[in-house]
Order: sequence, then C-alpha cells, then structure tokens
Amino acid sequence: MLGMRIERPITNMMNVMVILIVCAALGFGCTPAEDRSESARVVLVFKHGKLSGDGTVLSGLLREFERRHPGVSVREELLPSSSDRQHQYYAMNLDGGQAPFDVLGVDTIWVQEFAQAGWITALDRFLPPAEQVQFFPGAIQAATFGNRLYAVPWYIDAGILYYRRDLLERHGLAPPTTWPELVRTAQLVLDAEQDAGLEGFVWQGKQYEGLICVALEVLRSNGSDLWGGDPERAEAGLQFLRETVAGYRITPVSVGMADEESTRQVFGAGHALFMRNWPYAWSLFQQEDSPVRGKIGIVPLPSFPGYASAPVLGGWMLAVPSGSPHRQEAGELIRFLTAPDAQRSVALEMGYNPTRRALYADGALVESRPLLKDLYPIFLAARPRPVTPYYLILSQALQPEVSAVVVGRKTPRVALDAARRQVTRVMGARDVSGVMDGL
Ligand code: GLC
Repeated sequence: MLGMRIERPITNMMNVMVILIVCAALGFGCTPAEDRSESARVVLVFKHGKLSGDGTVLSGLLREFERRHPGVSVREELLPSSSDRQHQYYAMNLDGGQAPFDVLGVDTIWVQEFAQAGWITALDRFLPPAEQVQFFPGAIQAATFGNRLYAVPWYIDAGILYYRRDLLERHGLAPPTTWPELVRTAQLVLDAEQDAGLEGFVWQGKQYEGLICVALEVLRSNGSDLWGGDPERAEAGLQFLRETVAGYRITPVSVGMADEESTRQVFGAGHALFMRNWPYAWSLFQQEDSPVRGKIGIVPLPSFPGYASAPVLGGWMLAVPSGSPHRQEAGELIRFLTAPDAQRSVALEMGYNPTRRALYADGALVESRPLLKDLYPIFLAARPRPVTPYYLILSQALQPEVSAVVVGRKTPRVALDAARRQVTRVMGARDVSGVMDGL
C-alpha cells in the first residue's frame, strides 16, 4: 500500500489521508506531490519465517544496510516458522503480482514453482555465475530455473542425528552408524535408565513437509525413494519408522504430532537420547541455561547396512517478488545479507549455517563454531528433494499417506500405492518424466 511504503515529513496529515482515500476509491496509484520530493524514502518490506536465536542479530544487520544505503529503510515482517504455512501465505499473496513485500525468505523447494509462475524475479545480476560457484552446488541448482538464478541461498540445512554423548559414554556405547544399531543402542540405554523418563529417538512425524524430509532420508538410506525407486525397500523404510513407535518402542506415540521445535524441546530438556533435526538446534543447546549443554554430539544420520547416509538438503533463500517497485534496492539487500560478513555473523550468533563454502575454511569462524567442520561434508553430500515446479504437489500427495503409516492406520504398501495414484491423478497430463523414476 502506497501510504505504508513511503515515509516523509507529513505537514498536513488530513490532506494526505483524503488524497489516499480518494485514490484508493478510484483505484488509482496517485502519489501526493510531497512523495515525489527528494526526501521520499524507500521502505523495503522483508518478509520471512521466524528464526530462532537472537533476533537482534538480523535487525542489527538490517540497520547496517540502512546506514550504507541512505534513503532506504527495511521493515522486517515475520511469518510462522512452519514451511507449509509460509507457502500458503506466499501463494496467496504473490498471485496477482501485488505482493505487500519486497524481499521474501523462500524454502529451497519452492523456487522452481515461484519462478515458473512468474512470481519472483531473476537475480543473476546480483549474483553472477562466477560468484554462484562459491556456494553449495545443490543450493544453486535448487535456485536456478531455465538457466537463471531466482533466489540467493541464505542459509543451508541438512538432516543430522543429535545424541547424548554423556549417556552413551556412561554405557560404553558409540553413536550409531546404522538404523538397526540406533535401535539396539536406544533399547540398551532405555533399559538401563528406566527411571530417567527418557525417550529413545525423536523425529518429526506430524503431517507436514518435515515428515517428508524424515521419510525421504530413511528410504534413501535404504537405497530407495519416496517417488520411484525400489518399492520393497521403500516399504521397509516406512515400516522402520512405524516400528520405532510400535515395535521397538524407542519413540513416543506423540511423534505423530511432532515438528522441529517440539522435538527440539524434548531433546533440549534432556528427555531423549537421539533426535533427528536440522543444525539450527545446536546453538540453542549450548546456551548457558540449557540442560544438555556440553552433553551432546552430532553425527551423520544412520543408514541401513550396505547403504550410505542420506541427509535431505534443506535451507532458505532470499527472493524478490516480480511486482516489487523496489527490485534494485531489494536485490542489494539480498546481496548484503548473503555476503560473507553477514553470513558469518548469522552463523556465529544465530546458528544458521553459511551457504558460501569458503566460510567453512575461515579459521576464526571455525574456531568459534567448530561444528562447521562436521557439517561441511554433510552439507556437501545432502541430496535435494525433487527439483521441479510441481514439488509441492508431490509432497502434499505423500504427506497424509506417510502420516497414516506413522500412526498405524495404513500399511506402507497401501499408503505408497495410494500416494502414487494420487500423484499421477493430480499431475495429469503434465510432464513428470524424471520426477517419478527415482529422483
Ligand atoms: C527446514 C528446512 C526446509 C524444510 C523444512 C521442513 O526449515 O530448511 O528446507 O522444508 O525444514 O520442515
């Protein structure tokens, strides 16, 4: 809205209000004379999901950007942290080309969809190909549509296994490298620590995007996939997830409602031995009042014997709506926020990990955040979800089916068959070649 995006000294508020009301009623984009004066400021609205950690770090960066760009100010507007809920908001607001924001945080899985729909604008001139190679290649691939870059990777994610180092040491056990080992280790520790009120293994089992990430990691670490791949090994992977709850009894039934934050709270309160989550939780566990501070470690996610660990590549990027009247300033803000200095402070002070690979060899940064050394090979090996404009259709067809397996309402075979029928029906005549065969 015009009145919200331009700030200037208002000498006669009533007049301006009247002009704006009349303009709005007539549907005109009128600009009162004062707005065209030299003193007009550009207000960039920066919409993104709520981050954890110290929010003043990001606002400090935005103030620094404003200092370097006189005449531009940035207003942060937060959305809930859930990827699915943010997608709903953006899909509603970007359609029609009049989005009420100039920069947005996008999940890696949306860039193809938003670019194909014409909702976001190409950003190659802010990050030319020579500089793109400095980023993790998986992230650049997810951000590239038709040979053009539509979003700049902001921070990177991959699934990892958190474990309680103190408890494993107490029982002379090593962190697991296979899923069967994880089950055995959890059962041993739970048996020995019966009075501790401990859960064995918590993960994200609610019906949403996070569940698809977990399921994909388990299936791929069994040599299969959620879309295509060996059907029997896919079923075995889903069955494993169900068994953690029903058969092995290392996972609470409530996992069927769990997302990143609720599992983080259980593990962070000292109530779980193992947790699958993204790296953001690490810094929160190291805070002074954290019950698990100094007692935890991370390792790559386990796999089934004979297969490799298969973390899913996640992370968030920054993009600009095609209809923004401030595309130049918005691109400059993205450039600033994804430059090495800004990425360094977001990593150090908020715990979100850099998308520029060189920062993992930056002595001072790695010394203050040694976790980066362990994360680097995991990020390099992390595999993207299908890079297609139809990803959300693929995911949403699977979400209720995988959830039905987790809560014991469907067998993996029935659920996977239903999901495949649903994908074929929804995708209809669209070209899905490559998407369904084992991406
Ligand atoms: C994290 C990841 C994102 C993923 C989401 C699922 O935010 O960075 O890529 O889609 O979790 O919940």
